[in-house]
Amino acid sequence: MAKSHLFMLSLIIIPLISASPNSPEQKLSVAHTELTKYGFPIGLLPTNVKSYTINTTTGDFSVLLKHKCRVTLPPDNYLATYSSKITGKIVENKIAELNGINVKAFFRWWGITGIKMSGKDLTFEVGVLSAKYPADKFGDTPACEGKHSSS
Ligand SMILES: *[C@@H]1O[C@H](CO)[C@@H](O)[C@H](O)[C@H]1NC(C)=O
Repeated sequence: MAKSHLFMLSLIIIPLISASPNSPEQKLSVAHTELTKYGFPIGLLPTNVKSYTINTTTGDFSVLLKHKCRVTLPPDNYLATYSSKITGKIVENKIAELNGINVKAFFRWWGITGIKMSGKDLTFEVGVLSAKYPADKFGDTPACEGKHSSS
C-alpha cells in the first residue's frame, strides 16, 4: 500500500519539477547551441523555443516557438517579431532564405531574409539592403514582450 502511494506521489511531483519554466538552465535550447556551432550569437533567437530540426546535409532548418514573439533588438531598439515557425538555410557564418523574422524600421515592417557573420559583426539582410551590428550586442537571448513575456 505504502509503495503504491509513493508511486502516485512521484507521478504528481515529477511533472511539476520538470515543468518549472523559468529556471535559467532551460533558457538555452538546442537551437541556441546550434547557432553557436555555426558561428552565431545566441541572441538571434528568443527564449521560447519549442523545437528545432535541421538537415545537416543541406543546412535547411526549422525552429518552432511556443508562440509568436515580439522583442526589442538591442543595438537601435528596433521592434522585431518572430513567427511561431522560422525557417531558413544555415551554413558556417551564414543564414539564407530566412523566413519568419520581421523588423520594423522606417515606419514599416521588413522581413529579414539573411544574416551573416563576418569577424565580430553581424549583418542583417533585408532583400538587397543590409545593416551591420557588433555581434556582441546579441549575447543574450531576448525574452518575448507583452502578454507572453513569462516564457
Ligand atoms: C536532407 O536533404 C537531402 C536533399 O534534399 C535529402 O536527400 C535527405 O534525405 C535529407 N535528410 C534528412 C535527414 O531529411
